[in-house]
Amino acid sequence: MPSTPLSQDLNVLFITSEVYPLIKTGGLGDVSAALPAALRELGVDIRLVIPGYPKVLAGLRYKRKVTGFPELSHFPPFVLWSARLPAGKGASKGVPIFVIDCPILYQRVGGPYTDTAGKDWPDNALRFGLLSKIGAILASEASPLNWRPNIVHCNDWQSGLTPAYLHFFQERKVVSLMAIHNLAFQGVFPPSALAQLDLPATSFNINGIEYYGDISFLKAGLYYSDHIITVSPTYAKEIQSAPLGFGLQGLLASRSDHISGIINGIDSVEWDPATDPYLAQNYTIKGIAAKGINKNALQQMMGLVIDPDIPLFGMVSRHTYQKGCNLLLQVAPFLSKMPAQLVILGSGEVGLDRELAALEKNYSGKIAVRIGFDETLSHLIEGGADSFLMPSHFEPCGLNQMYSQRYGTPPLVHATGGLLDTVVDCTPATLADGTASGFLFYEMNPESFLAGIQRVIDSYHNKETWVSLQRNGMAKDFSWKPSATAYRDIYLSVLSRKLK
Ligand code: ADP
Ligand code: GLC
Repeated sequence: MPSTPLSQDLNVLFITSEVYPLIKTGGLGDVSAALPAALRELGVDIRLVIPGYPKVLAGLRYKRKVTGFPELSHFPPFVLWSARLPAGKGASKGVPIFVIDCPILYQRVGGPYTDTAGKDWPDNALRFGLLSKIGAILASEASPLNWRPNIVHCNDWQSGLTPAYLHFFQERKVVSLMAIHNLAFQGVFPPSALAQLDLPATSFNINGIEYYGDISFLKAGLYYSDHIITVSPTYAKEIQSAPLGFGLQGLLASRSDHISGIINGIDSVEWDPATDPYLAQNYTIKGIAAKGINKNALQQMMGLVIDPDIPLFGMVSRHTYQKGCNLLLQVAPFLSKMPAQLVILGSGEVGLDRELAALEKNYSGKIAVRIGFDETLSHLIEGGADSFLMPSHFEPCGLNQMYSQRYGTPPLVHATGGLLDTVVDCTPATLADGTASGFLFYEMNPESFLAGIQRVIDSYHNKETWVSLQRNGMAKDFSWKPSATAYRDIYLSVLSRKLK
């Protein structure tokens, strides 16, 4: 039997479509920064590959051209840069990255996936086909680098074709892992895209990349990868049946022996109330009362009535169905009549942005809304709100509920996915054993959500209960180390399985 590789033999290529602080639209950006940093601490040589959107290129301090990269006749010309994540406050600074500089595909005004109006870029198949292809080449004999990964770690549909490309390379195989951060996005394109992607016609098969007559990047990754990882144990179970399998439940259930759920951690340097530069006042578990200065700053900044005693709820999210924005819109008129305030920060679907923005006009002084992406304000909301809302229909992991607990801002969350795995509901029993750290509601309807809001308000006014909740949450360890260790163990076990 081959010996199990030592951790120093683990060379991992981490393919991602976003990484903080260069480019971030959601949790994948945070995870792509913090998980590799934590794995490097464990001795894993992990390097990233990412498209060169304008913000990414602008954020690189030093870069060196990778020479000798094979020409790819199906894709527009590009240059590959080798660089490091810029020095920031977070733990990820210095992590090596490869950046694909392909102006025709990536140099444009808008987001990584959509234009400024929120419409998908029409050439996304080619844009992320190139990312997937370059990832596969860097892991193959055709790579011009001296460094070779023995594991390729793909993230979401944007790198889903990498395991397919690797499958069709006629050479030593590397191990590929497909990480699902969100199964709702699958990268589905018409079959005509196949000709652009440089994959053999035989791949367009039910046992391959075909999905109900179309091509699915994510299905390709789930089918061809050696192992599937998702970002919480509960979500790993939920996706194996409808509705949260989003059509892929059959394939996922058939691979259940090769699926692991590992909860995300948080970047505990970036998200630390004791040192957070975006707060009006830093504080620790021993001086939680100082948190009130942030509440005051937040109320002032957002035009809310200044009141230290009224419970202030916060919500920061993409404005999509997933995040339960519709439920929030349904309960807002009721919440506005309760002794409470609400701050909303986010952006997303145009219709939801509009309806949410209208809340501020209708309930001025009680509900404040900021449409947009604002990293600074998101930190102040974590530090200044009393409680954080996450009424998500589904949540593969979720990061804000962990930030909230760390910031002494007990969250109210729908009992699903990673929210269920990371928040301990406040009950007499959990208060007594010191584990209570937030609130869960179980039915995805306005009554259940409002009952949860009422529970938060009641607990907020019970000083002893509230401080226990805050302390329990702040004392929890959400650092990446345990999760990064679990990833390393999976890398090792999948490698040794493949080598057998
Ligand atoms: P998802 O990845 O589904 O959007 P997560 O909870 O995993 O959800 O991560 C969301 C991340 O993006 C968090 O760091 C959150 O603070 C951040 N975020 C989302 N929307 C905004 C926004 N409008 N402004 C600032 N940060 C945001
Ligand atoms: C996704 C999920 C979110 C998760 C994040 C990082 O965007 O929606 O729940 O925390 O990825 O894994």
